[in-house]
Amino acid sequence: MAEPDAARMAQVAQYQLGDAVLVRGEGVRSWDSTGREYLDCVSGTFNLLLGHGHPEVMAAVREQSEELVFASSSFRTGPTDRVMRDLVEISPANLTRVNLRSSGGSTANEGAIKIARHHTGRRDVIVPFRGHVGQTMATSAFNGSSRMRAPFPAYAAGVLHVPDAYCFRCFYRQTPDTCGMLCVERIEDFITYASSGSVACVLIEPISGMGGNIVPPPGYFEALRALCDEHGIVLIFDEIQTAFGRTGEMFAADLFGVQPHMMTVAKGLTGSGLPLAAILTEERMADWDRSLHGFTNGGHALGAAAAVKTLEIVRRPGFLENVRAVGAILVERLRAMRKEYPMLGDVRGPGLMLGVELVEPDGGKAPERAAALQRALYARGVLTRVSEHGAGNVIELRPPLILTPADARLIADRFGEAVESIDSPDSR
Ligand SMILES: Cc1ncc(COP(=O)(O)O)c(C=O)c1O
Repeated sequence: MAEPDAARMAQVAQYQLGDAVLVRGEGVRSWDSTGREYLDCVSGTFNLLLGHGHPEVMAAVREQSEELVFASSSFRTGPTDRVMRDLVEISPANLTRVNLRSSGGSTANEGAIKIARHHTGRRDVIVPFRGHVGQTMATSAFNGSSRMRAPFPAYAAGVLHVPDAYCFRCFYRQTPDTCGMLCVERIEDFITYASSGSVACVLIEPISGMGGNIVPPPGYFEALRALCDEHGIVLIFDEIQTAFGRTGEMFAADLFGVQPHMMTVAKGLTGSGLPLAAILTEERMADWDRSLHGFTNGGHALGAAAAVKTLEIVRRPGFLENVRAVGAILVERLRAMRKEYPMLGDVRGPGLMLGVELVEPDGGKAPERAAALQRALYARGVLTRVSEHGAGNVIELRPPLILTPADARLIADRFGEAVESIDSPDSR
């Protein structure tokens, strides 16, 4: 029988499909059925931390598949034991417990919220504007974007959205050197006047990924942690995009030098796209009946085998230094383009978690330009994403952490050609 074509598949899939059929991936590259090559600057869905088909990770998965593919979490297995031990070893010292019973980021975040509510006996969840914490019913309601909530009007009670630390477009019209961290200070008012009076946790991506690669200024997380401690609120870092070297440090918590009370990880954990997620908690939150949160594919032995090898690779001497060095090559080249192309309003790191904010001549947000630039990059075989699920004005670049300096320069070259192709005198 003939393979289904794009027109047929458009009638079958319940959502919009692209035309290309991917058939192979290796490292930072993938290929479609016509032989076209892509530079995967979004690491799949930001989950192929070590690129497509990392040979060592694939060997670990193959080996594990010959022994045991899956076991219910009422049993221990070699790889699940090891990955839990390793996660405790590498995470901030106060995080001593691991819950491995989720396979995705949304359900890990829901688990973290349940643990925080169970532990504090309180209700509300604070999420910053533009925060993206998942796609289940509850996490959709918690996301800090009304566009993502609008189609599901009966959303969960107990969420409080607060202005984020988006210094490039500060909600309070301040600058980081003089603001006195108003975006943290004012959360007091939200707690007092806008919450239910019962706040359990703050759930925050240390760098807002989907929201536009928003990097809070120095001091932000110290102030946020102090505010949480003062109010007995559990501070949860959603490190689903930022963990395991993405920022050039093992965790964004290390980058900012602040210990959260809880942390969720998923995406990059298996290095290879296999599903596995974890919730890390402080010792005081270990009082928990496991039946309260767990999913069929949680603690998957194949995912755990991939994760053990991934963590081993990321911990090797020089690995994180390389992420920082290669990221710096890309950032410097992109920043240098800003002189020639004023539409590139801001280029943000760190490591290989990069965002390029597109602006109008008056400095306003330029989502159409971001979309045009993404199309121009795609035409040159460079895969990127646009923030806020395509509606934003920031091009997101998160290539696999094995990126070489040569490929970083190639990406920068193609980026330059793509910007040139959409530039015109009236865009300045
Ligand atoms: C920061 C962050 N948190 C949570 C999620 C949800 O993860 P998942 O799609 O695995 O449920 C995502 C997914 O994009 C994410 O980027």
